[in-house]
Amino acid sequence: METMTAHRRSMTQLVRRHLRQREIIGAAGGEVTGGGPLALGVPGITTGPGGEVAVDGERCAPAYRSLSDLLGTDAYFADVAAVTARHGQGYDPVLYHAFRDFLPPRRKNSGRCVTAGTPAHDRAQSRDHLFADLVVYQPGILPGGEPFRSTGHWNLPGQLEIFQTLTGRVLMLVGGRTGDGRAFLYEQICGPGDVMVVPFDIWHVTYVLDGPAVVFNLTTEVSGTHGRVDAHPGEEKYHRASPIAITARRDEERHEFVGSPEDWCTWGRPAEPPRTDWLRTFLAPGESLADLHLYASPDRLAALERMARHAYRLNWPYDGGPTKPAGIHH
Ligand SMILES: [Fe+2]
Repeated sequence: METMTAHRRSMTQLVRRHLRQREIIGAAGGEVTGGGPLALGVPGITTGPGGEVAVDGERCAPAYRSLSDLLGTDAYFADVAAVTARHGQGYDPVLYHAFRDFLPPRRKNSGRCVTAGTPAHDRAQSRDHLFADLVVYQPGILPGGEPFRSTGHWNLPGQLEIFQTLTGRVLMLVGGRTGDGRAFLYEQICGPGDVMVVPFDIWHVTYVLDGPAVVFNLTTEVSGTHGRVDAHPGEEKYHRASPIAITARRDEERHEFVGSPEDWCTWGRPAEPPRTDWLRTFLAPGESLADLHLYASPDRLAALERMARHAYRLNWPYDGGPTKPAGIHH
C-alpha cells in the first residue's frame, strides 16, 4: 500500500512536469480559487463553475475552439443558414476548450509515462502508447437549436477510444459499420463518472447537454485490426472524409435528430447505446479512466485490447460483446 502511495506521489510530480513543459501550466494562467476535484488520477486538479481547469489553483491554458473553427470544417449543421447569419453579425462563442495530451502518454507494455520535452515523448506512437486528452464543453445552443458541440470526425481503423465524463452531461452520436459491413448509428448520454467506449473506425460527434462538461479520453491503436474494415467496405468509403449528415437539435429538455435524406436512409434513426459491460469490468469501483491510464498493469491493458478486438469480431455494437472477460485482475 505504501508503495502505491509513493507511486502516486511520484506520478503527481511527473504530471505537473509534463503540464509545465506543455505550457498548460506555468505560462501566466492566473489563479483560480475553489472548484471541485477532477478524477484525473493525481490530486490537485480542479474545475470551477465556468469550466476552468486548474492545477494547484493555477489556471490551465487551453486551446479554444470557437464557432468560427467549426464553420471552417465540413460539419453538418441543423440550420447552417441561421448559424452563418448570426456568425456574420459577430456571434462567435467558444464551444469547447481542448487540452491535447493532458496526461503524459503512457507506454502500454510498461508503466512508464513519457513527459513532454523528452526524446521518448517525441517518439511516442499510438501503436505502443496510450494518449490522454481533456476537453471542456461549454454550455449553449447554436442558432437552429443544436447544442454546443465538437466538430465530429472519423476514428481510424483499429483505433480504440474510451471516454469518461467527469462533470456535466454530454450526448455522443456514433456511427459506422460492424466488421461484417452493417451500418449502425447510436446515441449515448453520459453524466458524471460514466465511461463509454466506441467501436473501431467510427464517426462521432459530442454535444453538451449540461455544461460545462469535462470529458477525459484515452486513445490508442490496437494491433491486429488493420485491414479488417477495408476487407468489408461499406458504401461510405467513397465519402470517407465526409461527416454523417445527421445532427442533434434541442427543444427544452428533449432532443431530436435531423439530417439529410440520403444519410437518414443510410444510417437510420439513432438507436439506443450498445452494451458496454465488457468494458466496465476493467475499472474497479471508484477507479477513474485516468487511474487506468496512469496505474493499470500492462496485463490489464493488453486484456482490454483483446476484449475490444474480440467485441469487434463479434460485430459489436450489433451483437453485443463478451460479458465475462477471463483472467482480469484489478
Ligand atoms: Fe475520436
